[in-house]
Amino acid sequence: MTLFINIGELAGIAPEGLLRKQGAEMADAGILRNAWLAEMDGRIVDYGSMASCPGAENVVDVAGGMILPAFCDSHTHLVYAGSRDAEFLDKLSGLSYEQIAARGGGILNSSDLLNSTSEDELLRQSMPRVLELMAKGTGSMEIKSGYGLNPEGEMKMLRVIRRIKESVRAQVRSTFLGAHAVGRGYGHADYVQAVIDMMPEAAGLADYVDVFCDEGFFTPEDTARILEAGAAHGLRGKIHANELAVSGGVQVGVKYGALSVDHLERTTDAEIEVLKGSGTMPVMLPGTSFFLGIPYGRAKDYIRAGLGIALASDYNPGSSPSGDMRFVMALGCIRMGLTPAEAFNAVTINGAYAMGLSGITGSITRGKRADLILTDPGWTQTKLPYLHHSPFIRSVYLAGELLP
Ligand code: NIG
Ligand code: FE
Repeated sequence: MTLFINIGELAGIAPEGLLRKQGAEMADAGILRNAWLAEMDGRIVDYGSMASCPGAENVVDVAGGMILPAFCDSHTHLVYAGSRDAEFLDKLSGLSYEQIAARGGGILNSSDLLNSTSEDELLRQSMPRVLELMAKGTGSMEIKSGYGLNPEGEMKMLRVIRRIKESVRAQVRSTFLGAHAVGRGYGHADYVQAVIDMMPEAAGLADYVDVFCDEGFFTPEDTARILEAGAAHGLRGKIHANELAVSGGVQVGVKYGALSVDHLERTTDAEIEVLKGSGTMPVMLPGTSFFLGIPYGRAKDYIRAGLGIALASDYNPGSSPSGDMRFVMALGCIRMGLTPAEAFNAVTINGAYAMGLSGITGSITRGKRADLILTDPGWTQTKLPYLHHSPFIRSVYLAGELLP
């Protein structure tokens, strides 16, 4: 057992059985000041106020710092080959994401790079990104395929994600995003069928299925077919929707019981309406809005409508080359108007929900994994997004074990 004492702010306390926070619940970050927390066998066993602190042999004095749940990043594309920094220069010279893609950059550029990279080399290139996120406090992450765009390349990516899953202490969820763009050499309809044909093999490797349902990529009809094929193999959806246009992706996602619908930079009120009462988590990706200069999601309108939202990094080489979840929180507050508490819930319990992990991580709850960030003294929940680039992490524990 490890006993953490003198915790200035223990943040993220949630009752057992609560899987997500919605509407006004998002304003409550579950804070107990001057607290202790006990961990045993990788799990949170108990916590309380220092006035009633138990004794233990193995004590960590947090000395007035915070303890919060490790971040839950429910949307990344961090397995990729090579670099797209040349496209960064194109972007700075004034080209849009769509124009860069039309010139042979974008997702197809990553696909070419990936298809000429071996599985071992892809793992070697991707692992430092995973370790960087863990060092920055991410304890659970979802990783998508979608740069293979043919059966061989997609399965290679999914195997690399599986190898990451098996080798790190962070929890990893894997999503089959065969429908990220039409693969080279295919017509549109043939490629949709090819994705459906990949489903049985993908389902042996992935936890979820995703479709880039957006203008110039895949239609709601394509998405419905792919979600049906996924469901037939036990895969729930996590949809890319409304990044480039109001696409219908939210509606089709909700109809098929998707776990999340992500991006939502271009939402109308109809998307908010259809999400009400559903089990689908809206996920917004402010790092993408920041990098591409596109609108930010209307997070406050969702919350006012009684919905929960999650924030994720979208870490990828083309539209969000950062997996820093505190930067995501800061953008959530500064650009989307979230309170620090709302941004905090969006990157912890609601992020965990959006990858099906909120029963086991994402909050300070008895019985959950001890996935914890310990901060230096003096940090508070408000300061996390406010002093957004000052170092704050003293240590990270995943399943109760101190990260090296
Ligand atoms: O989520 N929107 C589609 N996919 C990624 C971008 C991928 C890329 O450009 O490589 C995204 O923004
Ligand atoms: Fe994405």
